[in-house]
Amino acid sequence: MSDPSNSHLIALNVNHVERSLHVPPDTALLYILRNDLELNGPKYGCGLGECGACAVLVDGKAVRSCSIPVKSVIGKEVITLEGLGSPEHPHPVVQAFITSQAAQCGYCLNGMIIGTVGFLKKISHPTDLQIREALKHYLCRCGTHIEIMQAVKLAAELLSQDEMSTLHQKSSEDTQTL
Ligand code: FES
Ligand code: FES
Repeated sequence: MSDPSNSHLIALNVNHVERSLHVPPDTALLYILRNDLELNGPKYGCGLGECGACAVLVDGKAVRSCSIPVKSVIGKEVITLEGLGSPEHPHPVVQAFITSQAAQCGYCLNGMIIGTVGFLKKISHPTDLQIREALKHYLCRCGTHIEIMQAVKLAAELLSQDEMSTLHQKSSEDTQTL
């Protein structure tokens, strides 16, 4: 438990916004996100780094925010579920989970989505085995695994279409400026 009398001014970059907070630097990042910044995408599951419900992206990599102190993300970019797209324009991975109806209670979804975003940055066209391997430490108590597998495969497709359309747009703009 962090000692509140040991608070320091800490600057964070969360969801592309600079935030300054007076907090104990050893406090778990999860508590800062949920209690101080009111970002409730990351969930408290086990508090032990085992279930993945609290995952966030730190410099593009999925990490368990219950198990790292807030001071460890100073100078880094933190993205939570709230920072992925918007309700009007969902991130392709979020859209894939919605389209695939990959949820029952939904408690694991934050971790599944953040884990998938981090994973697909490394392997853009994964096999079933690679998906299973990547998400095996994100726990779903409802047994929604078949739909989650479908969602991750769809997410890979949507991300690749997104990339193609960005490239296409860029090449049209380049042609127009010639
Ligand atoms: S709450 Fe962080 S891994 Fe379970
Ligand atoms: S949908 Fe309930 S824990 Fe995964």
